[in-house]
Amino acid sequence: MKDPRRPIGVFDSGVGGLTVLAALRKALPREDFLYFGDTARVPYGGKPLPMVRRFAWEIAGFLLRQGVKAIVVACNTASSAALPDLAEDLSVPVFGVLEPAAEVARAYRKVGLIGTEATVASRAYERHLDLAWARACPLFVPLVEEGLWDDPVALLVARHYLEEAPGDLEALLLGCTHYPFLKGTLEQVLPGVRLIDSAEATAAKVAGVLAREGLLNPEGRGRVVHFVTGDPGSYRNLAGRLGVEVGELRRVSLEEL
Ligand code: SIN
Repeated sequence: MKDPRRPIGVFDSGVGGLTVLAALRKALPREDFLYFGDTARVPYGGKPLPMVRRFAWEIAGFLLRQGVKAIVVACNTASSAALPDLAEDLSVPVFGVLEPAAEVARAYRKVGLIGTEATVASRAYERHLDLAWARACPLFVPLVEEGLWDDPVALLVARHYLEEAPGDLEALLLGCTHYPFLKGTLEQVLPGVRLIDSAEATAAKVAGVLAREGLLNPEGRGRVVHFVTGDPGSYRNLAGRLGVEVGELRRVSLEEL
């Protein structure tokens, strides 16, 4: 059913995808969204890729049952694990976050990557560009999910992970949608290095494809419904601290997926 008034589904392991949701809402103010945070199973980054692939298929199936017209996999680990298969097999357009960020990074000569263990090990970014350096940073997602993105402990951890980064790095790909919340900390450790995240580039790509496919909503109101698998109160609280006001919020049990 090609009804442009249907919402767009966006999912992540937790709150990281809210960075992508914010860019999508800015680029597409008339669209309605369903945001799914798999907060009962976050973080994804240390889990085996086949397991994350299964999670991605479960969530995509749930979102399709809610009637979405497109799906944005707003999680690098899930994008690395489940794309391109998800995009090939589903009946709606599916967008990942790796390719749009890699396209931006290609303008730089010496590019580094930080991401989860699963994303870095998958070498999914290397399908799109050459990297000068890559480092898994497994503590970053828990730090954000714990609300510690601007705590001194985040600075200590960032120094530890980035101490071996080449001194002449021009750009650093933030290969996880949680990492933009750490930008202030990362800038202190790597001053002068351009930090590239996927949010705006992904939103621009989604807007372009929906326009081309005749899928732009002529009458949406920018409504967002949030779904979480973990505790709704903690999610609302954390999202609020990240500057996202959560209106409609529903808990989904893992059995429903
Ligand atoms: C995670 O849940 O560990 C990371 C999410 C991401 O890769 O963007």
